[in-house]
Amino acid sequence: MTTAHAPGKVILFGEHAVVYGRPAIAAPVTEIQARATVEPAPPGQGARIVAMDVGQQFLVREEAQENPLARIAQLTLRRVGQAPDPDLTITITSDVPIARGMGSGAAVSTAIVRALAAHFEHWLPSREISDLVYQAEVLYHGTPSGIDNTVIAFEKPVFFVKDEGWEFFWVGSPLLLAIADTGIQSSTRKVVSDLRRRYEADPDHYRLLFDRVGEIVARARAAIERGEVARLGQLMNRNHRLLQAMDVSCPELDRLVGAAREGGALGAKLCGAGRGGNMIALVTAETRGRVDMMLRLAGAADVIVTEIR
Ligand code: PMV
Repeated sequence: MTTAHAPGKVILFGEHAVVYGRPAIAAPVTEIQARATVEPAPPGQGARIVAMDVGQQFLVREEAQENPLARIAQLTLRRVGQAPDPDLTITITSDVPIARGMGSGAAVSTAIVRALAAHFEHWLPSREISDLVYQAEVLYHGTPSGIDNTVIAFEKPVFFVKDEGWEFFWVGSPLLLAIADTGIQSSTRKVVSDLRRRYEADPDHYRLLFDRVGEIVARARAAIERGEVARLGQLMNRNHRLLQAMDVSCPELDRLVGAAREGGALGAKLCGAGRGGNMIALVTAETRGRVDMMLRLAGAADVIVTEIR
């Protein structure tokens, strides 16, 4: 029996604009993890996936065309020379909330790749894991930027530009983030395609918004490298305003963002696709308790505090 894990993630800056070629910054969230366990199965069963949290089980060979989990298992089995259909059971559990902008799909896929590779004693470099997971992400999201698979497979904060690549960068002083969940599920695919429609109706307007996000992301990276947390908080607030202008926020996210600022956060913004899911607030050791309380009073379904370093 072989078990492997992968963390969740948050986008700190630049979601949505990243789909249009502007940079974005994301970081792993190790407090929440997806797990995959691989065990031998009776002869003739083939490869089966048991997804405990959603109460589903299915055979890889029957679902690999449309189910991202079956697809990633099939791609990995091919990669490690075990195609077409070895007898094994892959059991998945995850505490990365589904459809909340925390990278649940990429986390589960990464855990599956790692567990299968380990089970067959193959070492796969993170870059290759990331590329495999991207192919499953396409089934979830349609046109993913690739940021989720990158940050989760490498487990490091990244500065990411779609189709160009990514850079790891120095985190000058650890950042304390409160991550609050609206409790509302949101489909990244839908939010991205709705924005695409608005963009196509008025490309100049949206290009301008994306450019301004791109500038904020570059400044945010510099502020993170220099450990300028107060500056970083202001940049978060500005990024949130631009996301509101793109119409990807919602009243529940705006309420949590407002509550975090009232509680003393240095800055706050939605993170990920928006229209539900999570927001992040930049806090300090002194303000984290109060911000946590304010977020819960404002209706947060859950609050996690994580340190980015
Ligand atoms: O909601 P998430 O964490 O899947 O993030 C989506 C981020 C977008 O920029 C909106 C889309 C993408 O593919 O990068």
